[in-house]
Amino acid sequence: MSQQFQHDVLVIGSGAAGLSLALILPDHLRIAVLSKGNLANGSTFRAQGGVAAVLDDTDTIESHVDDTLNAGGGLCHEDAVRFTVEHSREAIQWLIDQGVPFTRDDGTSNEDGFKFHLTREGGHSHRRIIHAADATGAAIFNTLLAQARQHPNIELLEQRVAVDLITERRLGLEGDRCLGAYVLNRDSGEVDTFGARFVILATGGAAKVYLYTSNPDSACGDGIAMAWRSGCRVANLEFNQFHPTCLYHPQAKNFLVTEALRGEGAHLKLPNGERFMQRFDPRAELAPRDIVARAIDHEMKRLGIDCVYLDISHKPEAFIKSHFPTVYERCLEFSIDITRQPIPVVPAAHYTCGGVMVDQHGHTDVPGLYAIGETSFTGLHGANRMASNSLLECFVYARSAATDILRQLPQVSIPIALPAWDASQVTDSDEDVIIAHNWDELRRFMWDYVGIVRTNKRLQRAQHRVRLLLDEIDEFYSNYKVSRDLIELRNLAQVAELMILSAMARKESRGLHYTLDYPQMLPEARDTILLPPTYAG
Ligand code: FAD
Ligand code: SIN
Repeated sequence: MSQQFQHDVLVIGSGAAGLSLALILPDHLRIAVLSKGNLANGSTFRAQGGVAAVLDDTDTIESHVDDTLNAGGGLCHEDAVRFTVEHSREAIQWLIDQGVPFTRDDGTSNEDGFKFHLTREGGHSHRRIIHAADATGAAIFNTLLAQARQHPNIELLEQRVAVDLITERRLGLEGDRCLGAYVLNRDSGEVDTFGARFVILATGGAAKVYLYTSNPDSACGDGIAMAWRSGCRVANLEFNQFHPTCLYHPQAKNFLVTEALRGEGAHLKLPNGERFMQRFDPRAELAPRDIVARAIDHEMKRLGIDCVYLDISHKPEAFIKSHFPTVYERCLEFSIDITRQPIPVVPAAHYTCGGVMVDQHGHTDVPGLYAIGETSFTGLHGANRMASNSLLECFVYARSAATDILRQLPQVSIPIALPAWDASQVTDSDEDVIIAHNWDELRRFMWDYVGIVRTNKRLQRAQHRVRLLLDEIDEFYSNYKVSRDLIELRNLAQVAELMILSAMARKESRGLHYTLDYPQMLPEARDTILLPPTYAG
């Protein structure tokens, strides 16, 4: 039997964005936090390098703002950048207060008593990445989760996959407000109804749309697809960031080798040991990610090689082991001793710079619906996200959305009883092989046709293929009971189509979007904004 639930706030996603928002809201609110797998299954848990913030006395807000604008290829919204950077110190202080065990550096402290080691990453002109060795995401996630467990008003629900949002419009009522969501309970197999005064999409990115990715299996763009179907605009989905250095090994699924290695002096090399990055950018290994990933792609194609190498073995062994214990251990599992050998690496899809359009409070176009974290588009990242600005964005916007919810609370009543999910017309699927096949096909053609280097022809091919898939998936969705795989495939295909349409609309090369047909950058920088058929205006 399906069930009905009522909360003040429904948070879809248990990563940095979702957990922070739940913790910042006061204890008198009943909050549900959903995760579609276990609570740690998002990208947050895997984050390595750290969080960018202005913490050092010799660093400035202006410098962090400038670096972000430069990395963003002229497309960042300066107000969003400034807003985020100006709140960076407050965000880090909150994390410290929650108990996040950032790596200390007793050698440096500033007037305010910050005694934390700050590392460096691509695009940053200053050391400003606070971190917990090379497992910053796990340290943050574990701390926030432990805190959330102390709050009886926060219900943490695993194995719950949000299928679609419930809006007044969907129910044929007057108005547009979001009233809750239909959620598949993977344990019971039923789709439950969650009503809420406020609904938050904190569902992470969509890098699973590509065959090779640093992301966990959860990164299927569910929030972007659900928001789109509910009438929200999306922006800049052509900007898919490829991380330059993921471990290249047949048995290593999705393992990232943090950019902080390059920040601490690691070199990128060809198989013959030659360094090559200075041929592409004077900042060499510390150029922004779009430049480094494209350079590696170029060298791999030019030489017909399967990977390049990242070498930190010239640094002292003790330094490597203490700063990069996770990378050291993981590589050793594949018999690569990074204190002595270079690491084979390739670029892989890493971050979705575009997303659901929001304002400074995380409001989407649908009243009562917020989007925060990687699923949102705030304008911060422009055409290329600067390293370690993503976690920062999660914390800053979680706080501003929470503050806004508190402001609006008195005017928003508990929603009406919502209709249950209608499963009367569907049966169990006996064709799961089709879902698996379509997953594979989608991710392969996105990698081949909508990857680091694009052309009109490749994009047209991808568009044709995704339309065929969407038709097939629609038929499947109308006839069979929903499963996690089907929900994710439907969302990934939807987001893939939006990415392709966005890429086709951009007649220039800028930041992460590089096309051989329009290799130049246009003088005016414009966002690619897509309007859904149900957009209310
Ligand atoms: P996530 O942490 O991805 O969480 C998404 C949540 O949504 C999960 O709980 C998931 O289960 C849930 N969810 C999704 N869909 C549904 C659904 N339909 N129903 C229910 N729940 C759903 N950024 C930095 O700033 N610094 C770094 O050092 C860094 N390192 C990274 C390393 C790796 C390997 C990766 C993959 C990313 C890294 N990033 C880094 C990026 C950063 O980690 C992410 O952008 C950020 O963690 C996203 O947080 P989030 O809360 O938006 O989403
Ligand atoms: C990394 O540690 O290289 C990832 C940093 C990021 O994605 O911001």
